[in-house]
Amino acid sequence: MTSPFQPASINSLQLKNRFIKAGTFENMTPGGMPSERLHQFHQQMAEGGIGMTTLGYCAVENNGRLHDRMMYMGEHIRDELSTLIQSLHQAGTKVSGQMGHGGGFSQNTALTIKRPKGPNFGINALGIPKGMFFCDAMNKKDIDSFIRAYKDAALFMKSVGFDCLEIHFGHGYGLCQFLSPKTNKRNDEFGGSLSNRMRLPLKVLSAVRAAVGDDFPLLAKVSITEGARGGIQFNETLKFCQALDKEGIDAIIPSTGSSTMNPMLMFRGENMLPHLLRHEKSALMRLILKLSGKALFKTYPYSPLYLKKYAAEIKDSVNAKLIYVGGASTVDDFTTLIDQGFDFIQLGRSLLAEPLLPNKLEHNNPIKACTHCNQCLGTIAHDEGIHCPYYL
Ligand SMILES: Cc1cc2nc3c(=O)[nH]c(=O)nc-3n(C[C@H](O)[C@H](O)[C@H](O)COP(=O)(O)O)c2cc1C
Repeated sequence: MTSPFQPASINSLQLKNRFIKAGTFENMTPGGMPSERLHQFHQQMAEGGIGMTTLGYCAVENNGRLHDRMMYMGEHIRDELSTLIQSLHQAGTKVSGQMGHGGGFSQNTALTIKRPKGPNFGINALGIPKGMFFCDAMNKKDIDSFIRAYKDAALFMKSVGFDCLEIHFGHGYGLCQFLSPKTNKRNDEFGGSLSNRMRLPLKVLSAVRAAVGDDFPLLAKVSITEGARGGIQFNETLKFCQALDKEGIDAIIPSTGSSTMNPMLMFRGENMLPHLLRHEKSALMRLILKLSGKALFKTYPYSPLYLKKYAAEIKDSVNAKLIYVGGASTVDDFTTLIDQGFDFIQLGRSLLAEPLLPNKLEHNNPIKACTHCNQCLGTIAHDEGIHCPYYL
């Protein structure tokens, strides 16, 4: 029988086991610079035995950042990133970078354009506390430069030492905004039918692939559904995954939900709203959260491996490898996933609760399983970055 501790490969990259740290924006890049704390955070993951860690939300360009505490890819951080990656390699772990772009959704006051740009003109919900109320529609030139930003970021990320790149197509961010019939109302070749809505995301994949070469591992994180009326539904996600597969993606990570429309779908467990309110510094944002929070943050009780059914359906309809993410926390969960043919397991909250999880399991030591209290989510705005309040 296959064990989660057996090595396995994604394209030309071999991982020592089947555990991958899921991308969790760390908030350890003050002013957009990778900090010593970010280094320690991933170093601890490496020392805990993870096969590959992921640097969460690496914006592909300055205008793709959600705020100015995020880093964006470029020469200004080459030294910090290469030192970090080399040290993680020495500790025996591989390193992936999650490529993100917020599209029309941003509160980055350091934008070099008047407003963030998405598929259409509309409300920039995230920007309201910063007085950034609207987003603009991308024109053809903007679309070309958006694709170029991914290509340039991919070239940079490969050159700086990342072993793998994960393109974020889900959770309501830029590429997802184009895929979604709710947020994409364009009437050119990038809007309308599913094949038109997939056009930009697939062009991004092919630009990234051309930049990194055929043997470099590329992962896609997608949302199974946005969990909103009129948004992306599973039947379209399945077709999108098949299209990614045809375009040469190496592995798919089926997540779910949308940060702007239904975030709790991906974080089943306790509602995160009280935790967000506790840590939010902006009085205006706290007021907005109080007024609109109940509608946005619905409660979905935790159940083990809550995305397995849909992830398995995707697995059965593509050749790409499948990386499970969503509530995997116990030894039984890990064994079930590997027994059922999932190639790798991404862990988000479980590793915040227990960074040494892979090594502890391998040596039959007890682990502290995540309780899905979701307090870690509130710490996204914390000065010290994300953490599990129960991890000592
Ligand atoms: C604190 C925190 C930050 C997160 N940030 C990101 C992110 O930057 N990008 C992303 O794709 N998912 C992000 N996620 C979602 C996780 O990658 C993962 O999909 C989700 O937590 C479900 O997996 P889990 O049950 O193993 O935590 C974040 C999750 C947490 C807890």
